[in-house]
Amino acid sequence: MEHLPLILAPMAGFTDAPFRLLCRRLGADRTVTEMVSAQAMVYKDRKTAALAKIPEGDDHCTIQLFGHDPVVMGEAAAMLALGDYVGASYAHPPMAIDINMGCPVRKIVTAGDGSALMQNPALCGQIVAAVVRAVRIPVTVKIRAGWDKEHINAEAVAAACVENGAAQIAVHGRTRSQMYAPSSDNGVIRSVRHALPTDVPVIGNGDIRSGADVLAMVEETGCNGIMIGREALGNPWIFAAARAALAGISFAPPTEEEVLRTAMELVTAIVQDKGEEAGVRESRGRAAHFIRGMRGSARMREGLNRALTLSQVQEILQF
Ligand SMILES: Cc1cc2nc3c(=O)[nH]c(=O)nc-3n(C[C@H](O)[C@H](O)[C@H](O)COP(=O)(O)O)c2cc1C
Repeated sequence: MEHLPLILAPMAGFTDAPFRLLCRRLGADRTVTEMVSAQAMVYKDRKTAALAKIPEGDDHCTIQLFGHDPVVMGEAAAMLALGDYVGASYAHPPMAIDINMGCPVRKIVTAGDGSALMQNPALCGQIVAAVVRAVRIPVTVKIRAGWDKEHINAEAVAAACVENGAAQIAVHGRTRSQMYAPSSDNGVIRSVRHALPTDVPVIGNGDIRSGADVLAMVEETGCNGIMIGREALGNPWIFAAARAALAGISFAPPTEEEVLRTAMELVTAIVQDKGEEAGVRESRGRAAHFIRGMRGSARMREGLNRALTLSQVQEILQF
């Protein structure tokens, strides 16, 4: 079987540099940053620039942009692709610029961004064309099934993007109005795969929680790669499990000790990046994903919520 890339999905608030690096180390072939506002990039907002930083080792990282104005998107993409902005920090150049056409969050869609774009395939095409003109690296797109069940138009949007130069389409098999439930529809991913030229990779996304889910996704959709989001948040070993399933070999899950050690490594890296106060505060929600289901996890969570220093977190996450 061809080598199917396993990709960490972009997740705002989670796929920061420390987490991407961790997933890459544990088997993700590629990573995607948190979504970066094109408008804020063009306004030279430094906090936004920090979202796009690429650390040593995160060597197959795509930067995701959101916005709706083709001119602004093109300008922001050029700045990001070249690292031509104050605060740029790339140990590796970005491998691609991805355009967010899937985010369902109200604040984003009311601004006309994210999945709101899918209501206007022609505009989707114009945005891709502007970004393709602005950069020399591949431009990829991430879409949903459509706006709602009356408007499932992933095929049309994907086609408009590809006609304008998109090099890859990732499809999350839910509509905007479904947000995150019920389950993702692999049928939509299959239709997009069938509709596009075979040399344009289609990446399947939605509800991958195990190696078996990966095999089913490939079987049911014919997709050329797999993107994994929520499962990775507390189980970055999912990439190794998925690779093992694709190779038809068994996978030994990590011990609790390894899980806790890895959570602590992540928290430490976040604190290094963001400072102790902000890092520890942010780490509460991050470490909680790792300890879910463990004996004593409720007590650990309570402790994490009270922790103010890295050493307090360390005491809680000790095996
Ligand atoms: C907390 C969170 C943040 C997300 N942020 C983004 C984002 O910034 N850009 C994007 O394209 N998708 C975003 N998504 C959607 C994921 O990339 C993915 O499409 C979705 O979670 C379905 O995949 P999964 O079932 O493997 O989680 C986000 C999802 C979650 C849960």
